[in-house]
Amino acid sequence: MIIVTGASGQLGHAVLERLLDRAPAEQVGASVRDPSSVRDLAERGVRVRRGDYADPASLAEAFDGASRVLVVSANTLGEEGLRQNRAAIEAAVVAGAERVLYTSHAGARPDSPFPPMPQHAANEEVLRGCGAPYTALRHGFYASTIPMLLSSAWHTGELRVPDAGPFAWTTHGDLAAVAALALTDDVLDGITPPLTGPEAVTMEQLADLAADAAGRTIRHVTVPDAEYRAALVERGVPEGGADMLLGMFAASRRGDFATVDPTLPRLLGRPATPVSEVFVVPAQA
Ligand SMILES: NC(=O)c1ccc[n+]([C@@H]2O[C@H](COP(=O)([O-])OP(=O)(O)OC[C@H]3O[C@@H](n4cnc5c(N)ncnc54)[C@H](OP(=O)(O)O)[C@@H]3O)[C@@H](O)[C@H]2O)c1
Repeated sequence: MIIVTGASGQLGHAVLERLLDRAPAEQVGASVRDPSSVRDLAERGVRVRRGDYADPASLAEAFDGASRVLVVSANTLGEEGLRQNRAAIEAAVVAGAERVLYTSHAGARPDSPFPPMPQHAANEEVLRGCGAPYTALRHGFYASTIPMLLSSAWHTGELRVPDAGPFAWTTHGDLAAVAALALTDDVLDGITPPLTGPEAVTMEQLADLAADAAGRTIRHVTVPDAEYRAALVERGVPEGGADMLLGMFAASRRGDFATVDPTLPRLLGRPATPVSEVFVVPAQA
């Protein structure tokens, strides 16, 4: 049985949708903290069981009979996040999975200033030593981050962000399709190349694309890190969250999110989805 964790989340649910195109529902399992959140999957014949990374006993139940497990990275940082991801990877191996897959990141680096990236690098180390074949899917930066970056710009006409390097934005849909393929076929082994969208987009280009989509001027303005942080905190973003975003921009300046790689479109058999196709312009912009 192929088990997908994080089934209530954007990525996990999309992977299950794609997986149901490739495998019979009785061979597919979903692991979620709250089984009632994915009734749609249970109705389609998917085995839904409670699995909480913070409760290893629940993972033994959720992963029972697993041939392959996709561990969607926990969205908790620090020691607790490391513990949770390790528990999920180890539970998959104990359940007898012939391959453990994990949603890593194209920017995974032990020395990255963006806190999720050292965490992904540490989880890749856990995979290396887990004793089972593994696949660390190095996901490109989620294009779903873009609305957060543009939230003020739609109204002010200015994208005010710190100095930044380019981002090879990548859609959940493309990544879900590749993950489903990697769960059913032996197409990816070990640490994968970056699985990315088709272009590395600068903040200036992002502002231009947003302007085209909205049919109005949106100017790109580079602001000092401290000014950006202060504006976020004033808007109610917790200080830790503001610092994390500054870390994201710092990592981008190192070029950590800039690589565009042909692996994802090769596996999909079509071009990766460009950013211009995923803009959602708010009605009041
Ligand atoms: N590549 C990137 O650019 C990028 C960007 C952002 C995030 N990420 C990572 O990618 C992951 C998936 O992204 P997404 O868009 O699908 O996020 P999402 O919609 O927030 O989904 C996260 C999923 O993780 C589950 N989860 C959280 N804590 C858990 C735990 N202790 N035990 C079991 N499941 C747990 C959540 O379950 P509940 O419904 O029970 O909360 C949810 O199903 C994120 O968790 C994050 O680590 C990557």
